[in-house]
Amino acid sequence: MGLFFSPVKLLTKSVFLFQLCIFTLQAEQVSQSAVAMPDSFSADTAKNILEQGGNAVDAAIAAQFVLAVTLPEAGNIGGGGFMLIQKEGKSDFIDYRETAPQAAHRDMYLDAQGDVIKNKSIYGIHASGVPGSVAGMWLAHKKHGTLKWATLVQPAVTLAEQGFKVPPKLANGVERYIANLQKQKINVNFEKYFAGIKANKVFKQPELAATLKRIRDKGQDGFYKGETARIIANFMQQHGGIITQADLKNYTAKSRIPIKAKWNGYEVLTSPPPSSGGIAILQWLKMYELKKPNMGVVHNSAQYVHLLAEIGKRVFADRAEYLGDPDFFNVPVSALTDINYLEQRSESISLTAISTTENIKPGLKESEQTTHFSIIDKMGNAVANTTTINLGFGSGVVVEGAGFILNDEMDDFSAKPGAMNAFGAIGGKANEIQPHKRMLSSMTPTILLQNNTVKMVTGSPGGTTIISSVYESILNAVEFNMSAADIVNSTRFHHQLWPKNVIRTHAGLSENTKAELIKMGYTLDERRFGDLQVIINKNGQLDAASEKSGRGKSIVF
Ligand code: DON
Repeated sequence: MGLFFSPVKLLTKSVFLFQLCIFTLQAEQVSQSAVAMPDSFSADTAKNILEQGGNAVDAAIAAQFVLAVTLPEAGNIGGGGFMLIQKEGKSDFIDYRETAPQAAHRDMYLDAQGDVIKNKSIYGIHASGVPGSVAGMWLAHKKHGTLKWATLVQPAVTLAEQGFKVPPKLANGVERYIANLQKQKINVNFEKYFAGIKANKVFKQPELAATLKRIRDKGQDGFYKGETARIIANFMQQHGGIITQADLKNYTAKSRIPIKAKWNGYEVLTSPPPSSGGIAILQWLKMYELKKPNMGVVHNSAQYVHLLAEIGKRVFADRAEYLGDPDFFNVPVSALTDINYLEQRSESISLTAISTTENIKPGLKESEQTTHFSIIDKMGNAVANTTTINLGFGSGVVVEGAGFILNDEMDDFSAKPGAMNAFGAIGGKANEIQPHKRMLSSMTPTILLQNNTVKMVTGSPGGTTIISSVYESILNAVEFNMSAADIVNSTRFHHQLWPKNVIRTHAGLSENTKAELIKMGYTLDERRFGDLQVIINKNGQLDAASEKSGRGKSIVF
């Protein structure tokens, strides 16, 4: 046990506690702005909008549209997401998650034998939910925007019309994706639109530019009604898809009350259902507080990884059973985050031995591609926005005539009780397919507050691993007092109950930690995940960072 205790960590922890005291004693003036974005085009646009006098929400809207042009693997108008906002001391959560079309039904991905049809919810015309992004940006603008809508959409129009210089990582991603589609003999219109992407060459998207102009000039109606809606519905019909003009017209983005909970001297402001992430990170953070040894625990030691993996087992058992779209299924949010429940839930965790996967049941007594960005403006307002078309390049389907990629978000529903989705997540009744229902998400845009001042803005892509990236970014900031760059680049790990005792990790755990975990009975699956975009506020000084493995850019100004 002695191996795991670190006086250094204890010292850094008390230094940080001292800093926390300073935070609370001084009324803090934030006069800086910061953006942490997944690419340079969105970073420069967000900065520009803030410098024009726009607020964090204006910058977020402009960035979202730019990402639909310059980050086609995840940025989108054909997908959905969540935007968490802290503005003028008040919070809001814009839920622009996709919905199942009217003609969707519970067994739509099963064959006659009741088995899941491989890839049907992942590639091609049947994989998409009704897109929510444009409606989400429209609602965010109506409630919180200050600059004109057209001003916010124009940077994306310009980049689509005049083109942008393709980052080599994007060109590589497109090449790999086309090879994958060819190997699987899937023709989803992707190659026709994207084969022309070449590293460091200018890439133009005229059809997308025209679609964005309709959105710029007509607002959300430029997408959900009129020409764009007609193009989408006709395209669907021609290819045997089920999204109709009525589905588009009926789509509504929703403003929901974010989850807010006290933890470790902070208020954690995070994502409510249909995200599973807010509940999950609170369960993780609170159980960690309950179970961590009194003497502290060394960052990324075997004991630390094991403790958080044990918690993850319980978190994911609850996720599979209780979480789904709150408009269709009663999600017991308070019960799942109640400290007494979590105390009892974490009782069986041993700090030294692995619990048996099969024995971890839901605990209540009653019955790779997404993108995230974080913004703080000089008024101290903050936006954490995670947006997705699900896997890299979504369903691979590009809407002919409208030039944008459709999501494959239907895969986030549970196709059949117990069947794993692309992220290995399982689910049941709570997340079964129903018309107009939102599929369960792991996207977890999160903000830490102290005395109503924004202290941290965080979020990441990565499917179910998002939850681990987010809670570990919070622990790295609060428990281990790291800088933004260290928070985003520090080695992370993830466990989600199934596959049995498999811990997914970045490369970078020490050989000792790895050997100890393997000796305990874990299998390590060393594959990178996530792309954290983090801003922290230490005494009014902002510090922002994007993960070095991605192509992000952070600016403090
Ligand atoms: O909403 C979700 O949980 C997933 N559709 C997110 C997908 C994702 O993060 C892929 N990124 N690597």
